[in-house]
Amino acid sequence: MKIIASYSIKGGVGKTAASVNLAYASAKAGNETLLIDLDPQGASSFYFRISAGKKDKRGYFFTQKNRLLKQIRGSNYKGLDILPANLSFRNFDIMLNSMSKSKKRLKQILSSLEKEYDLIILDCPPSINLLSENVFNAADMILVPVIPTTLSERTYEQLLKFFQNNGYKKKIIRPFFSMAQSKNKLHRQTIANMENRHPEFLKSIISFLIEIERMGVHRKPALVYASKKSHVQSYRTLFNEIVKILDKK
Ligand SMILES: Nc1ncnc2c1ncn2[C@@H]1O[C@H](COP(=O)(O)OP(=O)(O)OP(=O)(O)O)[C@@H](O)[C@H]1O
Ligand SMILES: [Mg+2]
Repeated sequence: MKIIASYSIKGGVGKTAASVNLAYASAKAGNETLLIDLDPQGASSFYFRISAGKKDKRGYFFTQKNRLLKQIRGSNYKGLDILPANLSFRNFDIMLNSMSKSKKRLKQILSSLEKEYDLIILDCPPSINLLSENVFNAADMILVPVIPTTLSERTYEQLLKFFQNNGYKKKIIRPFFSMAQSKNKLHRQTIANMENRHPEFLKSIISFLIEIERMGVHRKPALVYASKKSHVQSYRTLFNEIVKILDKK
């Protein structure tokens, strides 16, 4: 079993769009896949038409496998399960803070799902806190969508610095360009500069596309309703690129 986190300190960069489409691509490729919506906004649960899970005031999410399993829902797609978010997830940091081994709780509970799933995808909220550190400890890969603009570049470098200063392995961080616009000169220049400076960037680029933006209307992964669009297929290319890297580990 492997764990991928779709993560960024920045909001609105395409973490959820990537989580939803990669989870679908994974199930379609024959992997038993679980998408965990860690964001109290519940966007990825919404895209799969799954209603909010039960509120969790005591942090059972991190301590009791049976309670966690009860929260998992099937989706309309074979091999793809969803663990929906709810507003109580906003208190994860407070819950974790009161636990021993507070930075490794997520890793512990997810490793108990080894037999059930081939791949777990974590759709993370935009923040850098105790929950994020749990994600850094649990994931085999931290997938970071980066919109090719100056501010995103700065935030990405802040993340690298945080990893370096706090003893996390930088090599699990794999960024990719998200919402890229080939007609935008600043985007083109930023992509060239960042690829130069950061060879860890994945080759697959996700373009800014109306079809992806319309996921909220369709409430399905873009790969389902716009599968003929070659740019939407980039999520599948991205998934294949990720799998190759994870297989080498
Ligand atoms: N490649 C894309 N092309 C066009 N629109 C996109 C693309 N990716 C995401 N969007 C749209 O941009 C908005 C933000 O995307 P998304 O919700 O995936 O970001 P996020 O990083 O998960 O945000 P948050 O930090 O709020 O969780 C959404 O309205 C989404 O539909
Ligand atoms: Mg999101």
